[in-house]
Amino acid sequence: MRKINLEISVEIFDWDELPDTDKMIMRSAQEALQGAYAPYSNFHVGAAVLLEDGTIIKGSNQENAAYPSGLCAERTAIFATGANYPGQIITAIAVTAKPASSPTFVSVSPCGACRQALLEYEYKQQKSIRMLLQGADNTVCVLQSIDSLLPIKFTQDNLG
Ligand code: THU
Repeated sequence: MRKINLEISVEIFDWDELPDTDKMIMRSAQEALQGAYAPYSNFHVGAAVLLEDGTIIKGSNQENAAYPSGLCAERTAIFATGANYPGQIITAIAVTAKPASSPTFVSVSPCGACRQALLEYEYKQQKSIRMLLQGADNTVCVLQSIDSLLPIKFTQDNLG
């Protein structure tokens, strides 16, 4: 038997400490949340993808009366990026959330399917994508790669 301990690093910034570029992309995610269509959960999620050339692509959750046909904000944003900017390097993605009943943003963390979808693009470009997650009390949690959110993963390498 062998045991491996996996460790991930998360930096937690108060809003005022956050570097300007990160503030900008998190603000874009907060704007993107306005486009959420979430009449079933009333949980609004916004995501913003930052490309190396400074372009920002926004996404938000899009629900459906046939529940599984809806899509999370992260995948809406990353698929729009893949479809419209196929050769561009993605440097970061920011995600925020707000229940309809809440006056403030709440902490959020991508679901497993979104982690898998995001990881595909990190593999595709062979370059880490930073992830900025809305934390509690207006904090922002920063991870340096998608890989760190999904350390035991299925990738193209598994396909042989
Ligand atoms: N949702 C996202 O868009 N991203 C997340 O990271 C968590 C969950 C959406 C899916 C659904 O529309 C609603 O939030 C409630 O789960």
